[in-house]
Amino acid sequence: MTASAMPVMPGADDVQLLIVDDLAENRLALSALVQEEGVCVHTAASGEAALDLLLQHEFALALLDVQMPEMSGFELAELIRGSSRTAHLPIVFVTASDRGAACSFRGYDNGAVDVLYKPLDPQAVRSKVRVFTELHRNSRLLRRQLVAVEAAHARQELLLAELQATQDALQRALRMRDEFMSLVSHELRTPLGVMTLDHSARRDRLARGDLAHFTPERLQAMAARDARQLRSMTRLIDDMLDTSRIQHGRLSIAPRPTDLGELARHVADDLAGLFGTVPLDVQATDGVAGCWDDARIAQVLANLLANALRHGQGRPVAVQVSWAADGRARLAVQDQGEGVPAADQQRIFEAFERGAASGPGLGLGLFISRHFVHAHGGEIRLHSTAGQGACFEVLLPTSPPAVAG
Ligand SMILES: Nc1ncnc2c1ncn2[C@@H]1O[C@H](COP(=O)(O)OP(=O)(O)O)[C@@H](O)[C@H]1O
Ligand SMILES: [Mg+2]
Repeated sequence: MTASAMPVMPGADDVQLLIVDDLAENRLALSALVQEEGVCVHTAASGEAALDLLLQHEFALALLDVQMPEMSGFELAELIRGSSRTAHLPIVFVTASDRGAACSFRGYDNGAVDVLYKPLDPQAVRSKVRVFTELHRNSRLLRRQLVAVEAAHARQELLLAELQATQDALQRALRMRDEFMSLVSHELRTPLGVMTLDHSARRDRLARGDLAHFTPERLQAMAARDARQLRSMTRLIDDMLDTSRIQHGRLSIAPRPTDLGELARHVADDLAGLFGTVPLDVQATDGVAGCWDDARIAQVLANLLANALRHGQGRPVAVQVSWAADGRARLAVQDQGEGVPAADQQRIFEAFERGAASGPGLGLGLFISRHFVHAHGGEIRLHSTAGQGACFEVLLPTSPPAVAG
């Protein structure tokens, strides 16, 4: 039992035909009849050999001799119909029997079965086979077109999703711009309002010649109040400039030898006025020093302290300066206030992100602080349980990583 007797070199797009006949001369004759450009003929001398070939190729048509020893053409056709891979393969029986013989094959009903009677009429054979090869070519073309259409469709879906994402981002940006404008105006309005009121009160007194009002103490208090309002406006503008620098990758630091404990005490002293009666305790291990941009680190601490004061519900705030176990310097600000819910703990470090009830502010403090700390090769961590205070921990390597370039 030998499989394919013909030398078969199928081209990639050739339509494959299968001829099964136990007699070599029949195989040759039929092959010669159906052979043409774009068609590749495989032959098998038995049903078993044919099943082998069916596993290897995708055929457009099988021409089966009905009378064969061992496995008849009908039996082979049953097997072909029974396998899902080949169930739809068109089958043409070749028989010398009387007309109607093929009707005894049960699979005849499904329409993909035809019969050729011996002696074969070359013309009829060729045109019948051509119908099937054309059918096969067309359905293959359709399948390819379907695949192409599906791919194009998938690409389109992808583009659509991208478009949607861009549109969402744009809308978010527009919304943020509007919110930002109203937020900034509001933030500037407050200190400006206080200064404007102060200014007109002073002007009125001066206009009335009420110079007695301007005692040294009052002048000092006025100057202090003015300084506070100016500081808050300057802070706001600086925060916006820093944010813009960060967002454009233009943040730079100027590290120099710095004692972290000293720096913490200075910042705490500067902010003491803000704290009023709220206890602020600074505990610093001696000699926690490194190479840092003192102004930036001071700003980080000032941000953390301002937050601790704002959210600390009037309870004591503690600042700690020490060495962490891994050799990094550690600066921690601990309050006993409302804390930060787990769901907010990542978000509040993003630009313009604020908690639910956060009072005034642009939501830039933690964003800027984190970037300042990152620029030093350090990290900022938050430990908090809602309702039980928050501890912001800054960890700094003793010197910042070398900047490329
Ligand atoms: N110590 C803290 N306790 C509770 N919540 C805090 C604390 N620090 C920061 N937050 C939350 O993080 C948000 C972002 O803080 P921040 O970036 O400093 O912006 P802002 O102070 O302008 O709101 C705050 O609005 C607040 O909800
Ligand atoms: Mg803040």
